[in-house]
Amino acid sequence: MAANSRRDFLQQISAAALITATPAAISRALASAVPLVPQTQSVPVSGEDGLLLRSFRFVDLETPVEYFNTWLTPVSHFFVRNHMFEPIELDAHQWRLSIGGEVEKPLTLSLSDLSKFEAHAVVNTLECAGNGRGLFRPQVPGIQWGKGAVSTARFSGIRLRDLLQRAGVKPTGKHVMFRGLDEVPGKVPPFIRSIPIEKALDADSLVATHMNGSPLTKHHGFPARALVPGWVGAASCKWLAEIKVLESEFVGNFMNPGYRFPNHPVQAGEAVKPEDTHPLTALNVKSVISGPADSSNVKAGKLIVHGAAWAGEADITKVEISSDGGSSWNAAKLTHEQDHYGWRLWTYDWTPRKAGDYTIMSRATDTQGRVQPAAAEWNPSGYLNNAIDQVKIHVA
Ligand code: MTE
Repeated sequence: MAANSRRDFLQQISAAALITATPAAISRALASAVPLVPQTQSVPVSGEDGLLLRSFRFVDLETPVEYFNTWLTPVSHFFVRNHMFEPIELDAHQWRLSIGGEVEKPLTLSLSDLSKFEAHAVVNTLECAGNGRGLFRPQVPGIQWGKGAVSTARFSGIRLRDLLQRAGVKPTGKHVMFRGLDEVPGKVPPFIRSIPIEKALDADSLVATHMNGSPLTKHHGFPARALVPGWVGAASCKWLAEIKVLESEFVGNFMNPGYRFPNHPVQAGEAVKPEDTHPLTALNVKSVISGPADSSNVKAGKLIVHGAAWAGEADITKVEISSDGGSSWNAAKLTHEQDHYGWRLWTYDWTPRKAGDYTIMSRATDTQGRVQPAAAEWNPSGYLNNAIDQVKIHVA
């Protein structure tokens, strides 16, 4: 299919059709009818405003970096990452969450039962481990995310530890597994992962029911999801149905070989044995420039370079900007809105000395002393790309 006719086809997928059909049905229909779209294609998906389509089959939508201009990302701008089909319509009244495994008293709770626990909210920057995968060279297989598989929201619900304490974790309970209600296609292994008990008992790990004050939308895990703040997005299981306390890490595709990082730096292109890897946990230190846009032409005069920076479980201490390809660096201004797991927005006033081509770079540092590196550590799955960001612009 030629690019134009493909675009026409995409535009024919009206928002109305997307509202009436189930997402699984849409994904299946699209998967059979449409070849891969160009990487920057934006399509009208109901309730998702201007996001970039990275995969049709299982809805994967990227946030354009120019949307990184509010501290909390509106839900309609929040990236979406699905490994399989979203569940068919879930009925909030029928939905139940079971808590079992290595506990004294297994529980089954409804949404109304959850609402009786103390409420808690956490502002969290959720980033997919594969964010920036499309920028690794040599390329690695997987969704070719650009820079926008990351967004920030205020997640609210109840503390996971309150549920675990109510169930009474046995001394043998060392890991906590989450199972979601995804529709698992064919022989694909289900999306089940676990986190260590220490993180599950952290006061900020949630069973979240709301995002930015509104009930979760279906794309983001309605009616409840895990929220494991500061960790790769994969830890935060959507459409949560089961929490199980285990004696050891869950054994399954999305724990091993999925979501693992080499124990030692590897040569680009080199294969890594599974036993030389460890599970991904917290995010790296990172900043992204959200404006001016890459490859843009700007007028001479004062310019505001702006963007966002985050560091998983650490806090951002500074963001520096270079306008001379990395020879010299100056501090950007961090804006006032902050919360431990949320990104910091930053701005930098810059007046180019003369017309011409410039490479602007951003580099973040955090409270753990980590500094964004010039090149990210290449790895065979393309995880955690936190290379110094850069845009090239032309000043007229
Ligand atoms: N939970 C379930 N049940 N199924 C999934 O495919 N994807 C995970 C996580 N939780 C996923 C899931 C991944 S890889 C990411 S990055 C985040 O959800 C994305 O959350 P979002 O779609 O709300 O942005």
